[in-house]
Amino acid sequence: MLAVCARVIALAATLAGTGALADSLPPAGATSCSGCHSAQMLSLDALSASEIVRALEEFRSGTRDATLMDRIASGFTEPESVAIAAWLKGE
Ligand code: HEC
Repeated sequence: MLAVCARVIALAATLAGTGALADSLPPAGATSCSGCHSAQMLSLDALSASEIVRALEEFRSGTRDATLMDRIASGFTEPESVAIAAWLKGE
């Protein structure tokens, strides 16, 4: 289930790379975050955009312990992480 989820996110990231999506749409993968990071549980509200980008980088590189964010983060490049974090924070 989680593996399938990560593959869908990776596919979405690939599609975004083709420029097929309009600039006004959320960056690929950004809307998937709220499925787990809702206001009640695992909220990202306390983190700034740069803290979210750093956390994703740490998950990707394995320097931050994770049960599944390591696999999710590995589906995104650094520029994609920046775009997702900015969108999540409404910037
Ligand atoms: C399938 C559920 C799930 C999805 C989808 C998900 N996350 Fe997470 N996230 C977690 C869990 C669980 C943790 C705690 C670390 C761990 O165990 O992997 C976490 C931790 C984090 C943290 C660190 C939070 C902190 O307080 O330090 C950040 C930042 C984060 N996620 C960002 C994201 C972003 C951005 C997305 C969308 C691209 C996303 N997550 C999608 C489950 C999810």
